Amino acid sequence: MDTTYRRLAASDTDYLADFLINESWPFHGPTVLDRDTVRRRVREGFYDGDDSRTFWIIEGGERAGLIRLFDLSDVPHGGAPLFDLRIGGAHRGRGLGGRALVWLTHYLFTEFPELRRIEGTTRQDNRAMRRTFLSSGYVKEAHHRDAWPGEGGRVHDAVGYAILRRDWLSGVTTPPDWNDE
Ligand SMILES: CC(C)(COP(=O)(O)OP(=O)(O)OC[C@H]1O[C@@H](n2cnc3c(N)ncnc32)[C@H](O)[C@@H]1OP(=O)(O)O)[C@@H](O)C(=O)NCCC(=O)NCCS
Repeated sequence: MDTTYRRLAASDTDYLADFLINESWPFHGPTVLDRDTVRRRVREGFYDGDDSRTFWIIEGGERAGLIRLFDLSDVPHGGAPLFDLRIGGAHRGRGLGGRALVWLTHYLFTEFPELRRIEGTTRQDNRAMRRTFLSSGYVKEAHHRDAWPGEGGRVHDAVGYAILRRDWLSGVTTPPDWNDE
């Protein structure tokens, strides 16, 4: 099926709230979003503004997933943007997440010619996201113990990945030098 990526529009607010509230996001921490919070965030530019851009992942005409790019205003100062990638429950495990990460990587490196790297962090037990990073050319760069608050007071480790423009261009991943001490 054809997958397309469409920038969030002002008229999407209710769809956005439905998507974020009605789906389950087991790896996104204990915060539960409500409709008013989503509306307020839309007004404040949290999803689309100077610092962020959000895209629907459209599959078979349906809003199947969401990509939010943020920290974009740091890019001219040498910073690396981050992203939040969410595939709706009914669409997971069918290649959409992997394709979306390849798409957003291409989008960011093309939109921002000065950009050197893109970063992403996930919870240690998010096996699907970790596989998605690796198969899209991202390299594990960081492991933060007890850094990710979960349900019921539990904490998880967080793992950080990144892709370099030079690796993206060459198609060859260069891991960090871990044996430098
Ligand atoms: C994580 C997520 C984006 C992955 O997207 P997806 O469409 O489900 O995954 P894909 O079908 O593209 O598979 C990508 C890789 O993950 C693996 N994978 C998919 N589901 C998996 C699962 N439940 N457990 C382990 N590995 C899994 C696939 O085998 C594939 O690995 P490969 O490239 O080595 O073959 C998606 O599942 C999701 O949105 N989950 C909930 C939100 C979330 O956790 N987002 C990440 C926040 S940091």
